[in-house]
Amino acid sequence: MHGDKAMINTLLDGLLAGSSADGPADLAVFPPFAYLSLAESQLTGSHIQWGGQTLNPNVKGAHTGECSGGMLKDMGCHYVLVGHSERRSLYGESDDDVAQRFRTALAAGLKPVLCVGETLSEREDEQTEAVVGRQLDAVIDVTGIDAFSNAVIAYEPVWAIGTGLTASPDQAQSVHAFIRDKIIALNGIIGGQIRILYGGSVKGSNAAELFAQSDIDGGLIGGASLTVEDFLAIYSAVG
Ligand code: PGA
Repeated sequence: MHGDKAMINTLLDGLLAGSSADGPADLAVFPPFAYLSLAESQLTGSHIQWGGQTLNPNVKGAHTGECSGGMLKDMGCHYVLVGHSERRSLYGESDDDVAQRFRTALAAGLKPVLCVGETLSEREDEQTEAVVGRQLDAVIDVTGIDAFSNAVIAYEPVWAIGTGLTASPDQAQSVHAFIRDKIIALNGIIGGQIRILYGGSVKGSNAAELFAQSDIDGGLIGGASLTVEDFLAIYSAVG
């Protein structure tokens, strides 16, 4: 819930000017619902895609204040975030809620970006793989593994989101490898192809080392995506 119309216009203009279709990475932005129309009007026909930050698990109906997958699709969204840690912790989204949203996103023709990650105390208790595995299983149980052929996974350790603390490249790679191996065990092709993004205090100064890890396919950027220079520094660090 950052920014305003002027800021988002500036950001989108800057990203359009500073990136290209044959640049180092695919680029997508996730503005708040209120500004999705700005993304649609500025980005349609460009190399930059956009998505919603969440969606309601229901297809339609009386859910005042909510946004459906169909509405996001109608606004030109290609992606939607599902299970961001703030949705889980501040809005009580359970693993099962997240799974329902993932399923509804796919049904609406959106590509879900499934966010998973452990809290600091879970990491300290050596529960990282158990937590991330449980979060993945909750979705796989509902949708089946084939649904992941049209999804992205984002590993975001909760303790690294917005804190300035970043997982070390080794810490991140180890969880990414765990995630990939888990998917590969169920479907080798999907596991080999799925994009697994790292999120949590990614900056221009640490992005290259993170993205150099074999199972880290890109980033999910929060704070550093709010200014053009910081976001483009990360974009340039890819590959
Ligand atoms: P951050 O946020 O990059 O500011 O840590 C990540 C996120 O909100 O997913």
